[in-house]
Amino acid sequence: MAPNALITGWGMYAPSRILTNDDLSRMVDTSDEWIVSRTGIRERRVAADGETTTSLSVNAARDALAVAGLDPAELDLVIVATCSPDYPLPATSVTVATALGATRAAGFDLQAACSGFLYGLATGASFIGSGMYRNVLVIGVEILSRFLDWTDRNTCVLFGDGAGAVLLQASDQPGGLLGFDLFSDGTGYEGIIVPAGGTVEPASASTSAEGKHFIHMLGREVYKYATRQLAESAVAALRKSGLTVDDVDQFVFHQANLRIIEHVQRQLGIPEQKTYINIERYGNTSAASVPMALAEAVAAGRIQPGDNLLMVAFGAGYTAGAAVVEWTADPQRAFLAPGEQTRLGQPQQQLGEQAAPEPAAVG
Ligand code: ACO
Repeated sequence: MAPNALITGWGMYAPSRILTNDDLSRMVDTSDEWIVSRTGIRERRVAADGETTTSLSVNAARDALAVAGLDPAELDLVIVATCSPDYPLPATSVTVATALGATRAAGFDLQAACSGFLYGLATGASFIGSGMYRNVLVIGVEILSRFLDWTDRNTCVLFGDGAGAVLLQASDQPGGLLGFDLFSDGTGYEGIIVPAGGTVEPASASTSAEGKHFIHMLGREVYKYATRQLAESAVAALRKSGLTVDDVDQFVFHQANLRIIEHVQRQLGIPEQKTYINIERYGNTSAASVPMALAEAVAAGRIQPGDNLLMVAFGAGYTAGAAVVEWTADPQRAFLAPGEQTRLGQPQQQLGEQAAPEPAAVG
């Protein structure tokens, strides 16, 4: 029988610098009231100057490996889902693998915007199901703060930086990834786009002067498509897993907008207490949002062995991804002995409580 792909390790990393809505209201024409009521976001993290997509990834990945107790040299594959890589070339996954000491792992980056982590999970699980690999690290990571126009209030209030990681391991034990659904529709490619820097419009002095290397977004169109597609992807993944909404113990949505999550909750009849929300502290961290929320939900005791978990995301492209997982790991694994503690192996109330740095000019 094909091996199952179990999640045996999880971790996350958020840069320590906090940018609040009040900080933003001193940079663009916006307010805490507008941002909270339209999105649910109160603050977001912004990577420090020396931090890179690789360094954020490594922080989250080390925790995931520590939770599982796996030597990085045992990794077969590192998948990094991101739309904000260190460089257009080479792949960030390769520098991540080397920094981790994953000396015999293959690595590639995967770009499906905010849905990237779920595409990565499905890809990693497929490598395991085929018998090709046994230990696959899947990372969702973004430093979108470096792709934002900090004078554009339509976008700069929405996004944040961060990383989340899970370790998938082959096992004969039942559980793990039960089913997934992946979706894409290029008719909406202009909904969220970085117009320049690719082959259509290579980077030049004029594209830079026009701000075409920043994220541009048609918010209302994206909103409408997202609410519809998130529900459809969730239902499709459940159908493929042979489960219904009522069989799910915990929902982990992509944290793009609290109103979108609440809309889908109502559409599918999901009780509020079954949804983990952390958008108020991190904003939309794109590919990092689902694994960060997952790691926090486990640390908060919201997910126990035997629970069914549904993760679902929507993003630029458009893309969407949903996965149903039967959780098998002991949540206490994150609370390691002193000296090897992960970031989540601390009392939950400490998360997001670091001192707010000065709102120095960003970008
Ligand atoms: N502060 C104050 N006013 C603002 C701001 C701001 N930060 N941003 C926009 N406004 C104004 C607009 O200019 C507009 O003014 P107008 O009526 O005078 O024209 C008004 O607020 C309302 O704008 P809307 O776009 O209708 O606001 P809406 O309620 O739709 O909320 C938002 C906007 C939050 C962007 C919403 O549309 C949204 O969340 N869209 C989806 C984004 C998303 O899900 N992205 C996920 C994928 S991202 C990825 O893949 C990388």
